[in-house]
Amino acid sequence: MNELKNMFVEKLKTANKLLVFTGAGISAESGIATFRGEGGIWEKFKAEELANFNAFMSNPDLVWEWYQYRRKIINEAKPNKGHYAIAEMELYFESVKVSTQNVDNMHKRAGSKNVYELHGNIERNYCLKCRTFYNSADFNFEYNKAPKCKCGGLIRPDVVWFGETLPMEEFALSEKAASNSDIVFVVGTSAVVYPAAQIPISGKSSGAYVVEINIEETALTRFADYSIFGKSGEILPEICKLSKELKNIC
Ligand code: OAD
Repeated sequence: MNELKNMFVEKLKTANKLLVFTGAGISAESGIATFRGEGGIWEKFKAEELANFNAFMSNPDLVWEWYQYRRKIINEAKPNKGHYAIAEMELYFESVKVSTQNVDNMHKRAGSKNVYELHGNIERNYCLKCRTFYNSADFNFEYNKAPKCKCGGLIRPDVVWFGETLPMEEFALSEKAASNSDIVFVVGTSAVVYPAAQIPISGKSSGAYVVEINIEETALTRFADYSIFGKSGEILPEICKLSKELKNIC
């Protein structure tokens, strides 16, 4: 174990480029529920009734109300120490990119500059008919009524639902960043939803050193070069502090 830790410290010392790939677990300490596991969203709600296009078309108001409920939780939440540590690491490395499966905007709110949103952003919405974008904060959306655009089209949240493709550019940029990185950190994800979960594996195939941070073992653990088990809001600030020391930045 010590040998692995020493190797991680060595890698951190010489690394210039990082990719941080995140999932719902990084926002758990902000009070935003994860999807799987105890207390997870998919334990209480059925994904097939809420997070897919057909569900929206057959009952737009129900799906809309569910997203308004999640928006409220997310709006009231704040980025945690894990999000802030990732943003701070930009000071200590040549490049720090974030590829996230989360729609909660927490990385940008914490100050991360290069964020690729693989599953969209709950604060954005668009009209199905004319593609006009609406920001949740700029629009007086009703809580339980799917809104209509000025053109008459239905407005949906700009999130990726089951069966939909990921935004091509965000995915391509994440894959590129994974391949170009010295270290890929995989934080708070069960790593079971593809194609997003492919990203750290692509990094590994291109020679990146893969470090997983999670409270438990996941589908990715066997691919990781080093796994740190614990809360990301505790582990990431430690890694950030260590990076600062290793890079001799006062
Ligand atoms: P999951 O809910 O599948 O996994 C959350 C992970 O976070 C689990 O592995 C937990 O062990 C871990 N975790 C929980 N608390 C943590 C903490 N404090 N620190 C570190 N790790 C912690 O969430 P995702 O992997 O993000 O997709 O799920 C992937 C996708 O499935 C989501 O983006 C969403 C969902 O269906 C769409 O909506 C398209």
